[in-house]
Amino acid sequence: MAKECILGIDIGTSACKSIVVDSEGNLLASATEEYPLYTPQPGWAEQNPSDWWNATVNTIKKAIRESNIAPDSIKGVGLSGQMHGLVALDKNHQVIRPAFLWNDQRTLKQCMEIIEAAGGASQLLNYTNNSMLPGYTGGKILWLKEQEPQNYEKATIFLNPKDYIRYRMTGVIATEVSDASGTGLFDVKNRKWSESLLQKLGIDINLLPKCYESPEITGFSTNEVFESTGLPERTPVAGGGGDSVIQTTGTGLIKEGILGLTIGTAGIIAMGLNSFKFNSTGKFQVFCNNAPNKWHIMGVTLAAGGSLQWFKNNMCKNELEAAKATNTNVYSILEDAIEKESPPGSNNLVFLPYLIGERCPYPDPNASGVFLGVTLRHKHSDFTRSIMEGVSFSLKQIYEMIVTMDANLSVKEIRISGGGSGSLLWRKIIADIFQLPVKTVSGNKEGGAYGAVLVAGAGVGIWGSVEEATNILKVETEVLPEPENSRVYNGLFEVYKELYPVLKPAFDKLSQIK
Ligand code: XUL
Repeated sequence: MAKECILGIDIGTSACKSIVVDSEGNLLASATEEYPLYTPQPGWAEQNPSDWWNATVNTIKKAIRESNIAPDSIKGVGLSGQMHGLVALDKNHQVIRPAFLWNDQRTLKQCMEIIEAAGGASQLLNYTNNSMLPGYTGGKILWLKEQEPQNYEKATIFLNPKDYIRYRMTGVIATEVSDASGTGLFDVKNRKWSESLLQKLGIDINLLPKCYESPEITGFSTNEVFESTGLPERTPVAGGGGDSVIQTTGTGLIKEGILGLTIGTAGIIAMGLNSFKFNSTGKFQVFCNNAPNKWHIMGVTLAAGGSLQWFKNNMCKNELEAAKATNTNVYSILEDAIEKESPPGSNNLVFLPYLIGERCPYPDPNASGVFLGVTLRHKHSDFTRSIMEGVSFSLKQIYEMIVTMDANLSVKEIRISGGGSGSLLWRKIIADIFQLPVKTVSGNKEGGAYGAVLVAGAGVGIWGSVEEATNILKVETEVLPEPENSRVYNGLFEVYKELYPVLKPAFDKLSQIK
């Protein structure tokens, strides 16, 4: 029988990636093309949807060619994309203005208006189960209404980035539950637009697309797409997912009992939930997951890999020079020094990673970084290690808060991803701090595109369900905790958790001194 394959497409912030994967989960081809990001004013972040589309066409064409498969073995397409963005289309479905991105900060005022219209921050949670972060789509819609009324008047539909690509591929206007959750206008509990909130905000529900479950087939690729890419006409296109959710699906997190841990610039703790959980503190993001009747919870610590990067750039002149002279990765020079000189616990040096304030566990822009316990015995390598440990403590604190929401939530293993997951030392630290096995799985490096493959494959019946699709993931590395190290870390974690509440007044005072 001819191979059955799925095409996964991820519309990222810096690039579009298209991959072809077969029904055993093997990656047959991957193509990436970058596009620009514009900041017309400080704090603004915009992109041209036509750049996403051009990169999509080019990478589909390249991935199909490089996979060496007959194009008609592609049985479905899955879409992943940067979340929270806003693409406004006019009555002819032409793009009205550049898209606003998830990291655009212009909407603080509109977010406050949304909170007020909902009747306060805790009332808002009853509508959407999420706080209103400035990145979310809802504030962007109100901004357009207030600041560019002529554009708002022209708009007939608002889409998230990947859903614009769906429109270009199929002619269909649609979204799915995970991306819709990140608009801040979605009733995550009941998996539909929050009509009552939309009414309070004066946003016509018809301006929002029809919403599907992630594996559902939303439309079929057009002849035009075939002409420009070689993807056969009428290939089914599944709902797909917002990148931060579907990326975790690609590592198996649809199943409860697995903890997702990502170390990118920011750090993320994520979990699949078998039932809806009320986000009573508003500190987490609780979104619909990519399988029907499943949810997703995540908490973000802002400076994870970013903390180590800051240290490397500013405090590691000698190591940077040595790396350049010997053509070695500077992080492996830093890690060699740790292995030689600094034991687990960094000789009781404790680092708080609040280098750009914090989001979770403490939503506090005034929080800042701290090294506690510095003595004459400490070496450079203790500082490096304590940064890796402090970031891991922050992630563990988020994890503890999530599992205490429900006594039935038990975790058996961690699946790690992101740039930091390449470090064996960091994986060991995490295993010891969490006292759980830390694994990496196949497809890890492909991010959202791989999750999109699993979701679309379930949608077209290659796999019976999204859960079943995750069975094809293969464990590539595994690190087990060492009890003696865990004992040291337990003691330090207690000290770590005491620090923020004690330091909070000092953080506030410090931020007032100009
Ligand atoms: C998720 C988030 C980012 C964007 C961009 O909440 O803000 O992950 O989706 O990738």
